Amino acid sequence: TVSLGVLASGSGSNLEAIAQAISEGRLNAKIEVLIYNNPDAYVRQRAERLGIPAVLLNHRHYKSREALDAAIIEVLQAHHVDLVIMAGWMRVVTQVLIDAFPDRILNIHPSLLPSFPGIHAIDQALNYGVKIAGCTVHIVSLEVDCGPILQQAAVPVLPDDTPSSLQQRIQVQEHSIYPKAIAEYCQKL
Ligand code: GAR
Repeated sequence: TVSLGVLASGSGSNLEAIAQAISEGRLNAKIEVLIYNNPDAYVRQRAERLGIPAVLLNHRHYKSREALDAAIIEVLQAHHVDLVIMAGWMRVVTQVLIDAFPDRILNIHPSLLPSFPGIHAIDQALNYGVKIAGCTVHIVSLEVDCGPILQQAAVPVLPDDTPSSLQQRIQVQEHSIYPKAIAEYCQKL
């Protein structure tokens, strides 16, 4: 059983999908801890309902990205985490975190990388007029939304799509590929 530490900033639907895959026996892992950075993030309530310990590390209270990452490492190590799962973590990570967990940090991103890295992926896909969008699970490297790709899924962009309708279509796929990618990656650890 692989010990997971999840980093999330927002609603936590991916956290929930991973927890569900574990409870249904599709993923042999345990979520030891959730770290979240926004006090009001809905992910905190999901963690509470799922019985996952949650630790708030508010980035506004740290003087640098490196200082936040050092605090993250402390929590992850205290929970004996083997693999770090970024599930809607909206902070840029530094070499400090990567060095502590080399090839042991995964991320999900709402585009078909290497198209549209960064925080506005869905808006950019719509503005660009792409007809196929999607999501990507990858191993985290220093450059934002870069690193070897583990899984991707594509969805159509429909003529009447809004950012929210496209996001919902992408998220359905995220909830399917992220647990699978984690399960496959865990086999190799
Ligand atoms: C997900 O769609 C994920 O791809 C995206 O944030 C969302 C979090 O949703 N991540 C990024 O944009 C990272 N650059 P969730 O909180 O419901 O899991």
